[in-house]
Amino acid sequence: MTMSIRIEKSGALKPKPDEDKLGFGSYFTDHMFLMNYDTDKGWHDARIVPYAPLQFDPAAMVFHYGQAIFEGLKAFRTNDGRILLFRPDKNAQRFNRSCERLCMPEIDEETFVEAIRAIVRVEADWVPAKAGASLYIRPFIIATEPALGVRPSKSYLFAVILSPVGNYYGEGLKPVNIRVESDFVRAVRGGIGNAKTAANYVGGLKAQEIAAADNCAQVLWLDGVERKYIEEVGSMNVFFKINGKVITPALNGSILDGVTRQSVIRLLEEWGIPVVEAKIAIDDVLAAVKDGTLEEAFGTGTAAVISAVGGLHANGSMHVINRGEIGELTSRLYDAITGIQAGKLEDSLGWTVDC
Ligand code: COI
Repeated sequence: MTMSIRIEKSGALKPKPDEDKLGFGSYFTDHMFLMNYDTDKGWHDARIVPYAPLQFDPAAMVFHYGQAIFEGLKAFRTNDGRILLFRPDKNAQRFNRSCERLCMPEIDEETFVEAIRAIVRVEADWVPAKAGASLYIRPFIIATEPALGVRPSKSYLFAVILSPVGNYYGEGLKPVNIRVESDFVRAVRGGIGNAKTAANYVGGLKAQEIAAADNCAQVLWLDGVERKYIEEVGSMNVFFKINGKVITPALNGSILDGVTRQSVIRLLEEWGIPVVEAKIAIDDVLAAVKDGTLEEAFGTGTAAVISAVGGLHANGSMHVINRGEIGELTSRLYDAITGIQAGKLEDSLGWTVDC
């Protein structure tokens, strides 16, 4: 299906930020994509309009019961001036799984990708050229019906906003420390941990504050029942290289199924490096740090890309990994993923899509 998209161009374009100082999620482009849903018309009125504040009834259900989901993907500028998206079909599929979980209307995969291509094409000048920088794409849906009964909303807004970004972490590419959280939990099986919903992130803020006080950029979440098994990190999935073998927590219903996670597993398989998805006890990981068999640890995510973990803060002390340096495999994966994304390496797995 090709949807018709009304385009209203902004009369006043913003100056572009310095590509060396982008940080993450601080600048927004000149336009946004919007589309409405109601039970009579379904999804309708697709439009690209000047980026501006949105207005909602104070009773809009998103404000009260948090019916909100989002995605994160990126557009990259190649050396020959093309713009590439990285596996947008995977984001579309996960978006719909999140919709299903939160009783929200799905958007078919083709329409989702078409909306993203359309807004990125309008904002092509905003896609950074600097290596490591990209245009972060944030699609989201919120419940807009003014009503206070606890039930799914009958109306929604789908929006896509864009933000030129550099590194997610203030540390740049330097390894980050993460704090093992043994008190608060992020999710439980049967909950919403595997949906990309706003609520999963607000629930983590308190632990993130505590982590920051311990000089950690992020929280390492343990399972919500036994508080024994590793789930994921605040904004990324996590991998460990122990005795030459790579291991990552198996998806268990409360862990987010990351697109970068999937891509890393596939690359490792292609390279013939043993990789397993399994239940991982935090005590086993800490023991492997202690006896020196834990060679590297890294996180994966759209925003975080591949981020080396330099230390695990647990039981009041920091357990340093790989002398706090970026490991060889971590670097190789970073180069491979960012190389494919920016069209510098051959995309033999067909992951990139021209915009
Ligand atoms: C992403 O990696 O795209 C995320 O959504 C993580 C975070 C910035 C919320």
